[in-house]
Amino acid sequence: FEDVRISRISSSIRVIPDFPKPGILFQDITTLLLDPVAFKDTIDLFVERYTDKQISVVAGVEARGFIFGPPIALAIGAKFVPMRKPNKLPGAVISEEYSLEYGTDKIEMHVGAVQAGERAIVIDDLIATGGTLLAAINLLERVGAEVVECACVIELAELKGRDRLGKKPLFVLVSP
Ligand code: PRP
Repeated sequence: FEDVRISRISSSIRVIPDFPKPGILFQDITTLLLDPVAFKDTIDLFVERYTDKQISVVAGVEARGFIFGPPIALAIGAKFVPMRKPNKLPGAVISEEYSLEYGTDKIEMHVGAVQAGERAIVIDDLIATGGTLLAAINLLERVGAEVVECACVIELAELKGRDRLGKKPLFVLVSP
């Protein structure tokens, strides 16, 4: 029963006040990873959704998209593509800048990792303002891939990141 899995996932996520800054309620998924049932249910829910959808690319956003993305990719028979913080990838990259509360940040993807026409999903642990996922979508679309959907464990709905993604579908497991 779906709700049992979702409530176990939800209650396994620890909330830490004032991290990394005063006033921020940090959603800590490391405690979800400590519960093998909750972790497996998380992966299974994504795998159930994306099996038989002809997805050939699972793109994961650094850092916590690197935890959830690979087991999903293996289970659905897709490649895993890391989207990294600047100057980490050794090969030729394309990069996409996005705005933060103060200033900008950037993510990068290896040139040649994804081909035009491939069907992709983007995975991260959490959507806040949506800037990170939007940058990931843009990177994939710039190389001609089709981003079918974005998927996160957690959505901070009050920040309206979903709106920033426009018409792009967003699938989330929990909204605290
Ligand atoms: C967090 C989170 C997402 C991003 C979401 O990463 O894991 O990647 O912020 O925020 P947004 O929707 O406002 O763009 P963080 O910046 O903490 O980086 P890290 O994963 O490298 O710690």
